[in-house]
Amino acid sequence: MKGIFITFEGPDGSGKTTQMEMLGERLESLGRDVVYTREPGGTGIGEDIRDILLDSSNTAMVHRTEALLYAAGRAQHVDELIKPALGQGKIVLCDRFIDSTIAYQGFGRGIDLGFLNELNNIAVAGLLPDLTLILDIDPALGIERINEKRVLKSGRAKDRIEQEHINFHERVRKGFHHLAASDPKRCRIINGGKDTETVHRELFRIVNEVLLNEDT
Ligand code: TMP
Repeated sequence: MKGIFITFEGPDGSGKTTQMEMLGERLESLGRDVVYTREPGGTGIGEDIRDILLDSSNTAMVHRTEALLYAAGRAQHVDELIKPALGQGKIVLCDRFIDSTIAYQGFGRGIDLGFLNELNNIAVAGLLPDLTLILDIDPALGIERINEKRVLKSGRAKDRIEQEHINFHERVRKGFHHLAASDPKRCRIINGGKDTETVHRELFRIVNEVLLNEDT
């Protein structure tokens, strides 16, 4: 039995986490077995790596270290959680995966894309998403949404990546556009600036068309 692997991507504040939860609930209501996970993170080791990566006091981190840490967490995640869940026929919904490395470390930080593709290949050991949903948003709006969330949720400070200059986030967005254009079969781009329900309907339509063929 082979499961289905769907990844969610997009700039910070694009709403992908909310959308992933909404899609998961919809799939569960159709009787599907859904696993929710995220990167960086998803395993004990991965969550420890996440803490290092997002800690805003880690100002000394060089770009290569950053790229290697994301890849290290991914290797663990693939072997420990994603592949076994797919082997059990589950639908795995993952908040960020290989494309974030290309968009953030490649387009954002300027690390060579060939090197990052190779690093991703090593980390995933042959596993690619069946479908990647990229939520597109103007980074200024994304950051505004993050700021609103911070105020609502106890005012936690922005993490190390969120703190980057708006120009960095603009480059990341271009990276996602590049990915959508270069692999249109796997990567679908959706306007994340619309209201939550509209975005959900569009995402479900795509998932249904590409992977499910449910009568709904
Ligand atoms: P999150 O806030 O969506 O959970 O993601 C954490 C941050 O990590 C987000 O700013 C994007 C960044 N990131 C990368 O820079 N490279 C990667 O490979 C991944 C998975 C995330």
